[in-house]
Amino acid sequence: MCPSGAIQIDRKDGNPAEQPPEVNTCHIRESGPLAIRATLIIDSKLDGYRATLCRCGQSKNKPYCDGSHHDAGFAATGEPETGKTDALQTRGGALDIRPQRNGPLAVTGPLEICSGTGRVVARTQATRLCRCGHSENKPFCDGSHARAGFVSE
Ligand code: FES
Repeated sequence: MCPSGAIQIDRKDGNPAEQPPEVNTCHIRESGPLAIRATLIIDSKLDGYRATLCRCGQSKNKPYCDGSHHDAGFAATGEPETGKTDALQTRGGALDIRPQRNGPLAVTGPLEICSGTGRVVARTQATRLCRCGHSENKPFCDGSHARAGFVSE
């Protein structure tokens, strides 16, 4: 039940293993990270069903959150305006997340992006999520990473 996905287990007791979510979601934490639930493929590796990814640009364990947003004083709303929310034909399944060098998270697959209070902000099949902390259109990348000199593998 680790909410961040940092701790994962393999059951040895014969009980059913964790199942993938029926709906892929990305919850935007107020002044914090992106909490994603899906069958995750991160940087071409299967990575379980839960992950908490840095969006402040300060984590020393990118693309994952390590709590650095607290020390950095990162401030960003968890309640961005509602955008394109047309229904998706498929709501679950594999979600491919590729951190771009010195740039955003390139995300491919069905994803419902939700505010901290659970409102659906956007539904998408492909998007680029800001991980540098500088976008004026969070949670989406607007190209500000280049101006900000964001550096990350
Ligand atoms: S990664 Fe932040 S604006 Fe592109």
